[in-house]
Amino acid sequence: MSVFRDDFLWGGACAANQFEGAWDVDGKGPSLPDMCTNGSATTSKWVTTAIRPDKLYPSHEAIDFYHHYEEDIALFAEMGFKVFRTSINWSRIFPTGEESEPNEKGLAFYDRVFDCCKAHGIEPLVTISHYEIPYHLVEQYNGWASREVVGFYVNYCKAIFERYKDKVKYWLTFNEINCGTNRSGNLMALSTCRGYEGPFSEIPDDVQIRYQALHHQFVASAKAVIWAHQHYPQFKMGCMNLFAASYPSTCDPADILANQKNMNLRNWYCSDVQCRGAYPYYACRFWQENDIRIEMEPGDEQLLKDGVVDFYTCSYYSTSCVTTHEGQEKTGGNMGGGIKNPYLKASDWGWQIDPEGLRWSLNEIYARYQLPIMVVENGFGAYDQLEADGSIHDPYRIEYLRRHIQQMAEAVKDGVDLRGYTTWGPIDLVSASTGEMAKRYGFIYVDKYDDGTGDLTRRRKDSFYWYKKVIATNGGDLD
Ligand code: BG6
Repeated sequence: MSVFRDDFLWGGACAANQFEGAWDVDGKGPSLPDMCTNGSATTSKWVTTAIRPDKLYPSHEAIDFYHHYEEDIALFAEMGFKVFRTSINWSRIFPTGEESEPNEKGLAFYDRVFDCCKAHGIEPLVTISHYEIPYHLVEQYNGWASREVVGFYVNYCKAIFERYKDKVKYWLTFNEINCGTNRSGNLMALSTCRGYEGPFSEIPDDVQIRYQALHHQFVASAKAVIWAHQHYPQFKMGCMNLFAASYPSTCDPADILANQKNMNLRNWYCSDVQCRGAYPYYACRFWQENDIRIEMEPGDEQLLKDGVVDFYTCSYYSTSCVTTHEGQEKTGGNMGGGIKNPYLKASDWGWQIDPEGLRWSLNEIYARYQLPIMVVENGFGAYDQLEADGSIHDPYRIEYLRRHIQQMAEAVKDGVDLRGYTTWGPIDLVSASTGEMAKRYGFIYVDKYDDGTGDLTRRRKDSFYWYKKVIATNGGDLD
């Protein structure tokens, strides 16, 4: 028996720079991810300031969705997708970010993608900026560190809103905006890495720049939401957070307080602004203690107030613990990690698996905002084995997803207003954190490998048939 709404949006989520390829085709300019090399579970990927002939840049071809989109969307439709979350590659539309007119060939590509979705009855859910920005804006302005980028972003939004107003209803202003609350945000969320060449793991960090850059994104997001609400009342505008719940390691009150601080900063700071329309009460003390001065322009506070989103979305992969005690074992996680939880197992990349944590998180989010929620990323990155007969058996992925969907069902029974679920990487794509292909999430296997080889053939994994049944039964049959 299904507990999900009849119109529940089941589907999958991808990001342009991780699967489109065609990085310099049809007028596209280079984006920041195009300057990133591949890495692995143990070796950091590099950020370079120019394309180095001796390095491999996985976004350049990726899985070439650009030329395979019809085949791929047909496969999504075969699984019964109701929604497909993808992002628009900003530098396909504005190659440097500063042009006054958009690139027609770039716009036409997304017309084809959205038309194809519609032809299959799939609703597009579009992330406006998913961990990318035209590289020119990094070189010229140090990414979101500069307020000028707000204007370029708003121009970009206006162009795509107008072009796709009859094709796209659901929009997310920034992917995992709260990634900017930690060091990895200098590459992924904020692009504040001008002139840096070296390992991603050692990217320079300046908290003043990071939090100022986040302020610029809040303003940009609010402006986009306000514009959309004024001109396209049919649009639904959402925020997107990397929800990485943390627990106190012990019941020592010091651990409880440390965890509260961590939760506030990592998981709530950004969504409090985007969902409630103002900086949260705990921000001032955090700024003071870290010597952060947020430069605001007159009118910014009103913008934040007027630019609140219509719905909340998040990614959810893993959880970790927080402690004030010395010598505790650490664990990995999405764009960061924490202290290991002895009750949980982890993936090969050290991301702890915590389905119950998803139920807990959804309850916390809903209690705080009372907005409709979508889980727009969840999935299991794993090494898959391609068998000689072309099959791929991935029971570990099915198990991970089944347990998380079970907990979403519990959250729905708890009363959470959950509207949709898009698993991460329904088709194998390039890993954001490591730049590798070997970390696979897909229901669809792609013949593409870390050394750049592979003929790009698509193959259905066992999980493909399982997810098809899940969707067909509206989450009622998870066996
Ligand atoms: C999220 C991102 O952080 O997690 C995606 O929004 C990313 O872009 C996904 O791919 C999984 O992370 P990774 O590092 O395994 O690709």
